Amino acid sequence: AGRGAHGPAVVLVGPPGSGKSTVGAVLARRLGCTVRDTDTDIEATAGKPIPDIFVEDGEPRFRELEAAAVRAAVAEHDGVVSLGGGAIMDPETRALLAGLPVVFLDVALAEAVRRVGLDVPRPLLAVNPRQRWRVLMEERRPFYTEVARAVVQTAERTPDEVARAVLDAL
Ligand code: S3P
Repeated sequence: AGRGAHGPAVVLVGPPGSGKSTVGAVLARRLGCTVRDTDTDIEATAGKPIPDIFVEDGEPRFRELEAAAVRAAVAEHDGVVSLGGGAIMDPETRALLAGLPVVFLDVALAEAVRRVGLDVPRPLLAVNPRQRWRVLMEERRPFYTEVARAVVQTAERTPDEVARAVLDAL
């Protein structure tokens, strides 16, 4: 992948369980492009799953890999870019997102916890997921809002409806 000619078509941000992966796939199909997911890129670079990176190398190392993955993704990918839920806590990452078509997928606690319960393990939500999610969201909401050009509510919408709302918002 060389440098993207146009930059990302959409950058999805939001907490775990907001539907970034599912909605990203729908958006890519509609736009005729591909999704670049920073979590996937980090796992490829590290050569191991995210939970193993947290346990063996620590969260600070994960965040370093994440900042580099976001930098590469927004520089190189013209399609949909999906960021891990905590990526926006890094000030340099937030600066990088300025001017890009960033959409914050907002979701309520009960719905998010229901979704992540069905999904791959998240080290930060491994213990007491409801309480952990609530605290993370309180801390992060200002930053999701700061980087976003648009906020899309995902409550009681299908992935197709959310994707439509994302495209309408941009
Ligand atoms: C994290 C979210 C995860 C992944 C890692 C840390 C977070 O991505 O990057 O487990 O800090 O919220 P998703 O948002 O795709 O779950």
